[in-house]
Amino acid sequence: MTYNTKWAVQWLQDFSERVIQNKQLLSDLDQAIGDGDHGINMARGLTELQKALAEKEPASVKDTFKTAGMTILSKVGGASGPLYGSAFLAMSKAIDNDTLTETQLIEALEAGLAGIEHRGKSHAGEKTMIDVWEPVIHALRQDELTSDVIEAALQKTKDLKATKGRAAYLGDRSIGHLDPGAYSSALLFQALLAREEVN
Ligand SMILES: Nc1ncnc2c1ncn2[C@@H]1O[C@H](COP(=O)(O)OP(=O)(O)O)[C@@H](O)[C@H]1O
Ligand SMILES: [Mg+2]
Repeated sequence: MTYNTKWAVQWLQDFSERVIQNKQLLSDLDQAIGDGDHGINMARGLTELQKALAEKEPASVKDTFKTAGMTILSKVGGASGPLYGSAFLAMSKAIDNDTLTETQLIEALEAGLAGIEHRGKSHAGEKTMIDVWEPVIHALRQDELTSDVIEAALQKTKDLKATKGRAAYLGDRSIGHLDPGAYSSALLFQALLAREEVN
């Protein structure tokens, strides 16, 4: 399939919808190992993104991701705002063409992951959203991304000990809980898969 502007807008609208629907759950997860605002932070910013995308149709995929990055950066707040914001801005920067191939989509996502790692000074295994982004991108490269792969990556964050973000203050007590940012990232990639099925 080809990844065009309409696809990018629909993907982000679907992601926003899923986050808004799971706002309470995301905040409950954050309540256990953080400060309980992840759902509120994300839903606020993504409601703004939905409006921005509906009001002015982006000119390209690059433009769509730029709007997402800027909106999330300015409206989400918390740690997750700058992290997701950096991801989408890096994805936008990585794109030259109007329509992406599968390879170019993967390259853009890799740039997004690098953006998160750079901004968060973090890497896989620290119980963050990266623990979903990395295995998802790996599976995409192998053409093996499924809903189960995303779910398995998310569930694995349960066993990890947090060493970044607020959850790191809990040390060993962070073990046994899902990471909220990993959960919202799982929603992002479930929305990506859902679009593949539509197209
Ligand atoms: N340094 C980091 N690198 C990557 N992800 C991080 C980092 N710090 C926090 N996160 C992610 O952000 C999520 C928390 O987001 P949120 O609750 O919105 O922000 P805050 O922690 O400021 O309240 C965590 O669950 C984790 O996935
Ligand atoms: Mg929080």
